[in-house]
Order: sequence, then structure tokens, then C-alpha cells
Amino acid sequence: MTVSISIASGKGGVGKTNCAVNLSLALCKQGKKVVLFDTDFGMANAHILLGTNPRHSAASFLKGEAKLDDILTEAPQNLKFIAGGSGLLELLNLNNETRYRMLQSLSSLEDQIDYLIVDTPAGASDSTLFFTSATDIPLIVLVAEPTSFLDAYALIKAAHIEKGLTQFSVMVNMANSASSAQQNFKKFSEICNRFLDVKLTYAGMVPQSNAIRRSIVKRKPITIGMPSSPEAKLFTDLANKIPSLPHNEHDGITFFSKDKG
Ligand SMILES: Nc1ncnc2c1ncn2[C@@H]1O[C@H](COP(=O)(O)OP(=O)(O)O)[C@@H](O)[C@H]1O
Ligand SMILES: [Mg+2]
Repeated sequence: MTVSISIASGKGGVGKTNCAVNLSLALCKQGKKVVLFDTDFGMANAHILLGTNPRHSAASFLKGEAKLDDILTEAPQNLKFIAGGSGLLELLNLNNETRYRMLQSLSSLEDQIDYLIVDTPAGASDSTLFFTSATDIPLIVLVAEPTSFLDAYALIKAAHIEKGLTQFSVMVNMANSASSAQQNFKKFSEICNRFLDVKLTYAGMVPQSNAIRRSIVKRKPITIGMPSSPEAKLFTDLANKIPSLPHNEHDGITFFSKDKG
């Protein structure tokens, strides 16, 4: 059985891609088979954080120039990576049919991989909503700013009302402390519960960190470059928490079959 996890926020610059990359690598370190898929087709950048230069991307697959095997590129720790492809403006207007084709072709990976991690673009765009609601676990990245709260709320509301999702996991990034992260989660959770019939689960936190900032500049994810750092340990904690996070059981298009009995 493959578990799919989307990393989403509604807002750009909150650390989604860094989280997607390091969570993927932390799961690989535990011996899991993981595919990381960058669905930010307009401004894909997971390959930059990963320090890889893939020849092919999802864009080449969708244009018929590459096969699925070609776009599953090698990344550190045996991670398999599907790059989004940058600067391909026509893909910003990717329609649902093309998205569905991408999703269907990945279904052949079911049972070959343990986890599919989906990095999503900013904004509650059609693309974000489509890929977020196609995963078992939407993992929302929240930072302690009103704009982040507002955008994350808008994304959850759209995923709930338009796609029927009820379960959302939340990780707090750039937090001042573990306790302030918990408080921010609680505050955000209360806002969501006041207006929407959804359940939010706390998945973990990562502090505001210069080491993370430097790791991005060096193109060496912190889980690889500084494996004994407190930050790397927090990504391991997040990876450990994944099996206990609730899955959505909504009807709708998903990455892998719902028949997981
Ligand atoms: N925990 C953190 N501490 C400090 N800076 C961070 C942290 N997470 C992310 N950043 C900074 O935020 C920027 C945006 O991160 P990124 O993962 O690309 O966000 P997103 O994918 O949400 O747009 C990075 O370039 C990095 O400098
Ligand atoms: Mg990103």
C-alpha cells in the first residue's frame, strides 16, 4: 500500500518545499521507498533544494517527450524524484484532464513505493486543490503570521467544501519554540473548527533556523548535510509521526486506489 502526502499551505515562502524535501529524505533514511513529486509546474524548485539537475521533468512527460521511467530521477538517499520543470508557462494553465493523466500514470507505482510526497504550489489554485485532495494526508504548513493563517484557512475551506476532505494534518514552520508552535496550532485549529466540519491533527514543528536557510543556499538538505542537528531530528520526528496521521476517505480522484483492504 502506498500512502500519499501533499505538502500545502495556500501561501508561498512558508517552507513547503523544504519540508517536502526533508520529510522525503527522513522517510528514505528509515528504509522507506519514497517518490517526491514537485507539482509546482510553473515555478518548480524542489530540484534546487535537493541539489539535483534532472534532465527530464513532469513537463516533458506531459508533452509526450519522456516516459514515466525517464522522469523518475535519482536523488540522494535512494529517493526518486519527479521534477516539475520551470518556466513552462503553458503548464500554469494545466487543465484537469492533464492533471488526471499525470495522476493515473503514477498509479503504476502503487505497491512499489511506500510513500508519494507531493510538493504543491502556493495558492488555493485549481492545481493545488487537485493534487492536495488527491492525497491521503494533506499536510498543511503553517507559520505564525495572520497571512499564513488566512491562506491556510482558505485552502482547507476549499478542499473541504469543493472536494469533501475532512482530515488535515498541520506542521508549524519557522516557530519560535515548541510550545509556541503548539499554541499556534491550537489557535488555528479553533478557527477552522468554528466554521468548518473538519478535523486538524498536529504533526510537528520546525523552528526558525539559520542552519536551514544556509542548507538551502548550499543546496544540501539539512537532513543530509547536518544529520545530527536538532532540525534534522525534527524532520525524523515528523517522519515517525506520519503513520499515525489520519487519512481522508472522501470520494473523488486520488493517487492510488482506495481499496487498500
Ligand atoms: N525553518 C526555517 N527556518 C528558516 N528559514 C526557512 C525555514 N523554512 C524555510 N525557510 C526559508 O524560506 C524560504 C522559502 O522556503 P520554501 O521551502 O521554498 O517555501 P515554499 O515552498 O512554501 O514557497 C527558503 O528559501 C528558506 O530561506
Ligand atoms: Mg515551494
